Amino acid sequence: MIKMMNGLLGDFVVAAHKVQGLHWYVKGPDFFMAHAKLEEIYDELQLMVDETAEVMLMCEMKPVATMGEFASHAQLEEAKLDFTTSKDAFAIVAKDYAALIENVGDVKAKAESEHLDLIALKCDTFHETLAKTHWMLTQR
Ligand SMILES: [Fe+2]
Repeated sequence: MIKMMNGLLGDFVVAAHKVQGLHWYVKGPDFFMAHAKLEEIYDELQLMVDETAEVMLMCEMKPVATMGEFASHAQLEEAKLDFTTSKDAFAIVAKDYAALIENVGDVKAKAESEHLDLIALKCDTFHETLAKTHWMLTQR
């Protein structure tokens, strides 16, 4: 369970940094909208970083906390980013959100099998947040 939780933590960190990079690199006539929306999304991911680590501590697990450990536990690929349109930026984010939704589902199943109710409940909250943003990202 701890390995899966650190994997989820690493994935949220990788996703948050990728979205922050896209927030910096996005260009185009809709810059103001895209720049602001990408900031909202990485804030959302950063909150999930914190909540994942804290629910682990509540369950007497030690979350990893260095950049190297986040990267080595993450399943999500880091991206070498460049200046991009909002269309491509939001497509990258939507793909990561779909992967995160799957990962959260796997973590929830494992938590339920081990009767770790707090983690299963937290996964439901993450699923709801991720699914709503994923829906918005795919309406363009
Ligand atoms: Fe900023």
